[in-house]
Amino acid sequence: MKKGNMIILNASELVTCSGFKGKTGSEMNDLKIIENASVIVEEGLIKKITQDKIELSSYEQMGYEIIDATGKCVLPGFVDSHTHFIFGGYRQDEYDWRLKGQGYMEIMSKGGGIINSVEGTRNATFEDLYASGVRRLNSMARFGVTTVEGKSGYGLDLDTEIKQLEVMKRLNEVHSLDVVPTFLGPHARPKAYKETPDAFIDYMIEKVLPVVVEKDLAVFADIFCEENVFSVDQSRRFLSAAKAMGLKLKIHADEIVRLGGAELAAELGAVSADHLLQASDEGIKSMQAASVVTTILPCTAFSLKEDYARARAMIDADCIVALATDFNPGSCFTESIPLLVALATNQMGMTVEETITALTINGAAALGRAAQIGSIDVGKRADLVIHEFPSYKFIPYHIAVSTVEKVIKNGIKIID
Ligand code: NIG
Ligand code: FE
Repeated sequence: MKKGNMIILNASELVTCSGFKGKTGSEMNDLKIIENASVIVEEGLIKKITQDKIELSSYEQMGYEIIDATGKCVLPGFVDSHTHFIFGGYRQDEYDWRLKGQGYMEIMSKGGGIINSVEGTRNATFEDLYASGVRRLNSMARFGVTTVEGKSGYGLDLDTEIKQLEVMKRLNEVHSLDVVPTFLGPHARPKAYKETPDAFIDYMIEKVLPVVVEKDLAVFADIFCEENVFSVDQSRRFLSAAKAMGLKLKIHADEIVRLGGAELAAELGAVSADHLLQASDEGIKSMQAASVVTTILPCTAFSLKEDYARARAMIDADCIVALATDFNPGSCFTESIPLLVALATNQMGMTVEETITALTINGAAALGRAAQIGSIDVGKRADLVIHEFPSYKFIPYHIAVSTVEKVIKNGIKIID
């Protein structure tokens, strides 16, 4: 990982999102903005934040890059804490069928859905997946994303799950973005286990999970807890085994049918529960009490033409709410942060401030990294984005268009 020395000079608004842990609903509106401020970055870390005039010549002599941010706002890099960006093949026909009225689960029950991407991913080589992974990360970076979570789950067998995770490991080593890997082996029932999901969970626990852990290929384990996919009991069994082997937990919960995935996330102490379109009031309360980050994915609801998750209820219940894209080849083929911001602010009743918090420090909390990234604080990674306008209020106002001008990762300019 390369690390730079730089000064970002005189930002009109330094939107710090300051904090070292996730922000609860009542804290999410306070962006902790410093006006006319500069940031000094040393060895990839934020060294100093100041409103004083900086004597540039000595820094220039030491080789610091100086970026003039006069008239611009500067934010922490966005954290996209839920994606499935490693996959082979596409499912453009399924989107077309959905536009014509078919449901996501209906397409799945007819043999479409995740299983189609499994075939494409099993057939793809490591190099194919790596090359498309690079292109997708580059696209995310242009939207101001500096850390990305990525899930396996298009293999459903030992070799392909490991291949997906190894691609992410390599990308994390080589690409300037950070990639946080999640093992999502139980993402769908493969054909051979269509009627025997319990046996598939056994296979995942006994044959795949130990290899993932032994090779140190994942930080998180995740499961698709959904009617006709994996039940709450099966989810509990898989996630408990993963936790016992040292992985942190995430869960695809209460997306289409209210099964109680939210409550399970609280019971198991998951770091986050994701989707939650159908989460009950009780589920929301239990996630708040257990400090589970509630990650909502509005682009998926939009793409599936489902009702949005109850973001306001979660914020008002004082949950730590994060927003992420869910970029994947089926339910949500978009990595667009501008679309996500448009939906959160215009369709879900989130304030602009809550939306930015959900995409920065709370995204970091959803990855267990709020002490290192997600805000502009001394000691944190210098993952910073310069937007072309003087205020963060332009971010939703320029509807569905990116305002990102420059992206800095570990003090190195990666997008200019
Ligand atoms: O998060 N819901 C389950 N998994 C993905 C969809 C993956 C796919 O359709 O390929 C999701 O929406
Ligand atoms: Fe997902």
